[in-house]
Amino acid sequence: MARKRSREKEPSREDYMLREQLKIEEGIFDNRTMLRIGKLFTKGLVSSMEFIIARGKEADVYLADGGDKLDKEFLALKIFRMENARFQNRMKYIRGDPRFGKIKRNIYAIVNEWCKKEYGNLLVAEAAEVHAPRPYAFSGNVLAMELIGKEGKPAKVMRNETLDDPAGVLDTILEDTRKLYQNELVHADLSEYNILMLGKVPYMIDFGQAVHIKHPSSMNFLRRDVENILFYFSKKYGIEKDVETVFNEIVE
Ligand SMILES: Nc1ncnc2c1ncn2[C@@H]1O[C@H](COP(=O)(O)OP(=O)(O)O)[C@@H](O)[C@H]1O
Ligand SMILES: [Mg+2]
Repeated sequence: MARKRSREKEPSREDYMLREQLKIEEGIFDNRTMLRIGKLFTKGLVSSMEFIIARGKEADVYLADGGDKLDKEFLALKIFRMENARFQNRMKYIRGDPRFGKIKRNIYAIVNEWCKKEYGNLLVAEAAEVHAPRPYAFSGNVLAMELIGKEGKPAKVMRNETLDDPAGVLDTILEDTRKLYQNELVHADLSEYNILMLGKVPYMIDFGQAVHIKHPSSMNFLRRDVENILFYFSKKYGIEKDVETVFNEIVE
């Protein structure tokens, strides 16, 4: 069976989306994930699942209807996949962050830790008043958060939009990066893929890898974030800003 499968072609994106949709309709998430979604139902946060918004690199994100304890009609559920492949990659963002002690080395524990970490990072983003989804709850590998979108329509990734006011958007992103830093957090995976445009306002998402500023690599991650964003705005919109100047404005 395994041999046969490995010879098969990778499913197309359409096939994948369809299969994910069927998962919702037939309720065929794995048992653990089902139980965790069930907990969110019991808490009154979720009343039903709608559809898959996107397949991310380490998680699938779903649109769900809010339950009676949620003051919003919709929410987003990020469900982390239990994969070994990205495991080593993840460790460098957990190890060295003083908020994390000893963690078990099995994949379930790490994925759960990662989900909890994203939840905690989103709380910091909320306290820092940056544009980011408000976290509602997490359970194991399932993170419930504010839907960035309008009337149940998820916002688009900045990368797929052409901005009317790129300079203004860039200023907001850098200001939010500064606010995060002032609240002792570095996003560490900032790019045009992890920013959603809600109308004219950029929202940062995907905080799993964000690190505390005491992490030994936090300054490298911050510089890389600034470089990525400035490179994108330079390439796509011809806006030139000096990396070192911007970096210093953030950390001063
Ligand atoms: N709160 C949200 N509201 C609306 N869409 C979201 C939200 N969070 C994630 N998404 C969508 O899901 C995609 C993957 O989410 P992301 O957090 O970037 O996961 P990954 O770590 O797998 O890249 C995003 O590109 C975005 O399209
Ligand atoms: Mg992402």
